[in-house]
Amino acid sequence: MSTTTQLRSLNIDNINPHVKTAEYAVRGLLAIKSEEYRATLKDGKGSDLPFDTVISANIGNPQQLDQKPITFFRQVASLLENPQLLEHEDVLTGSLGYKKDVVERAKWLLSEVNSVGAYSQSMGAPGIRGSVAKFIERRDGYPSDPSLIYLSAGASSGVNTLLHIICATPNTGVLVPIPQYPLYTASLAVLNAKCVPYNLDEEKAWGTNLDVIKASLAKAKEEGIDTRAIVIINPGNPTGASLSEQEIKDVITFAAENKLVVMADEVYQTNIFIGKFHSFKKILRDLQKETPGKYDNVELASLHSISKGMVGECGHRGGYYELVGFDKDVVAQIYKFVSIQLCPPVIGQCIVEMMTHPPVEGEESYELYRREYDNIFEGLKKRATALYEAFREMEGVKCQEPAGSMYLFPTITLSQKAIDAAKADDKAPDEFYCLKLLDATGVCLVPGSGFGQKDGSYHFRTTFLAPGTDWVGRITKFHKEFMAEYKD
Ligand SMILES: Cc1ncc(COP(=O)(O)O)c(C=O)c1O
Repeated sequence: MSTTTQLRSLNIDNINPHVKTAEYAVRGLLAIKSEEYRATLKDGKGSDLPFDTVISANIGNPQQLDQKPITFFRQVASLLENPQLLEHEDVLTGSLGYKKDVVERAKWLLSEVNSVGAYSQSMGAPGIRGSVAKFIERRDGYPSDPSLIYLSAGASSGVNTLLHIICATPNTGVLVPIPQYPLYTASLAVLNAKCVPYNLDEEKAWGTNLDVIKASLAKAKEEGIDTRAIVIINPGNPTGASLSEQEIKDVITFAAENKLVVMADEVYQTNIFIGKFHSFKKILRDLQKETPGKYDNVELASLHSISKGMVGECGHRGGYYELVGFDKDVVAQIYKFVSIQLCPPVIGQCIVEMMTHPPVEGEESYELYRREYDNIFEGLKKRATALYEAFREMEGVKCQEPAGSMYLFPTITLSQKAIDAAKADDKAPDEFYCLKLLDATGVCLVPGSGFGQKDGSYHFRTTFLAPGTDWVGRITKFHKEFMAEYKD
């Protein structure tokens, strides 16, 4: 028995075992090692390393990777944090160059929240929920009820709330796409509930395949699992897919027929490069109109966030989810559950307000807002395309065209020699590849095994947020050398 075990109440064998079971590769071994490399370089001790910078392509953290905050959001936020500045409007609109609409928005938000240092209502400030509802109405062309909009500390906190409500017993199952953002599997593990995996169809641009979903549900049923919900991530993480209207209709119909809650994770809704984003809420309302009765009781929770898109304010922790079709007693329990956390961060709520109610044409801040927004979008698109082109040239690498979100998720064909070497090193083959890549280039990716993947297939996920293209060249060069070293 270790000294720690004897002296303290907690040790690794008596804490909540479900926390230990949970896995979250996005910040796992590779990320930790990359941070060690970064610290070594910062201390000026990395002269023996084969690279001089670490590129964190493992995480969708836009402003960590040089995406600039949108000026309107930050100017308003600065006034919210320090309202005394509003006593010097002449200085603000004079030498500091704040526009009048910035000052007005800050005053309005302060009138709604009183102070960003104060708690708000548990589900978020009413005026801000009103702005979110109007945004949803403009987006979808259907009404949205502010009393069913819950502001949250990022979409993660919304997912956490919803899964707490859904996961009633260790036998409760939730259908989760594979590959998936590991928030879902990790949260289900912590809640001691069952992940019911369904594979996405890589050959069809990582779309949903209804036959596969049906088979997963049937298999879960045979195993005695009580499946209560289906998670959809659209646009996809890690896949970069963007679902068609028909795919969404099929999922909603499937959910209606099998009485499943639909959790639509739509945090990447503005990161769309091919086609158009279709919200689950709009498609559900369309279906309800087309076929009265059939879809009346579909329960949909759709989530959005300030973390992604051109906003990229993930450090501020803001998001929301809209509930549609839930029983009112269940909603009351959701309300109670979020009340236990008091409220989401109020500054994050204010940024949700600005994301959903940005400056519009004719307002003074519009031009700069539009320019900044478009520049970020074009930059992301350019880097996504450059990376995609580079992957297409690489031996044994197959990649879907970037359609949405912030990631590419190519397949890598690894030789038996590489697979054996990984096994000897007690690593998954794609983890082995990514570790070698990190050691050789300083570029940190996430192996496909961290998201789940079809047995026998290997992938890695990279964001295309990192500035410049030098790091893409590093990957290409490494890949060539790796393939040569591990040739069968
Ligand atoms: C699909 C998906 N959902 C949710 C989140 C969490 O976002 P937030 O920062 O809003 O909690 C992420 C973050 O990467 C994500 O990729």
